[in-house]
Amino acid sequence: MNTLLLREGADRLTVELHRPDVRNAIDDEMVSELHGVCSQLERDPRILILTGADAGGKGVFAGGADIRTLRERRRDDALQGINSTLFSRIARLPMPVIAAVDGYALGGGAELAYAADIRVASTRAVFGNPESALGIMAAAGATWRLLELVGEPLAKEILFTGRRLTADEALRVNLVASVHEPEDLLAAADAIADRICEQDPLAVRLTKRVLAAPRSAHPLVDDLAQAILFESEAKTERMTRFLDRSKETS
Ligand code: COA
Repeated sequence: MNTLLLREGADRLTVELHRPDVRNAIDDEMVSELHGVCSQLERDPRILILTGADAGGKGVFAGGADIRTLRERRRDDALQGINSTLFSRIARLPMPVIAAVDGYALGGGAELAYAADIRVASTRAVFGNPESALGIMAAAGATWRLLELVGEPLAKEILFTGRRLTADEALRVNLVASVHEPEDLLAAADAIADRICEQDPLAVRLTKRVLAAPRSAHPLVDDLAQAILFESEAKTERMTRFLDRSKETS
């Protein structure tokens, strides 16, 4: 891979966006390599941790879609939904996706972070959608994911005015789960992944699928997913372990 650095683990894959010279801007090659990562995780479900390569000690998640590429794109490119398709595929990955955001997450970089299930930030994280300043709109998730994450009034302010959120502001509006010193950020993401790994993986996968179902599908999808889990060996084992815990200690 030319634009990503991968760290493979048995239960997780850590992917670093790696184009530090252009602040990890997302170009066609990175899009295609991220699709490769998705195919791998769809075949072999693991947690995905997304992070960005440090740029000269400043930390950056991603400065957005590559503006050099964007300037050349025309109507038919936009209609392909290049970034929106990728980010939706990432959002639909079987196991949870965690974005570890250090420094700027702007434009498409922010929208990639919005597509994650959980975001953690460093103290120097900055979220923003400056698309309208470039004469385009944020079309890869901000108009629906950001809206759901922070609510309509703030999403509109961010999208209409280019307002950026600091890490503390992002924490206050629950856009991020927690804020850490830059050197502790990946460990914080790993600690969340560790906690997810203590759960039953099928229960986590089905919960993620059911959470993404439209409101009209509830509670039917919940009942069906639960029915699958009620038949699993893991459920019997985990519940028996709980019920027998006092026998083991006595
Ligand atoms: N696309 C293409 N190149 C980008 C880029 C992007 N989204 N973001 C940064 N770069 C490039 C710059 O052009 C510059 O290249 P150069 O060294 O050839 O001049 C290099 O990355 C460093 O950028 P610089 O602005 O000097 O770094 P910085 O650390 O001072 O600021 C940002 C970082 C992210 C705040 C700033 O680069 C920025 O505002 N980027 C654009 C953000 C944006 O509008 N994104 C929305 C795209 S839809």
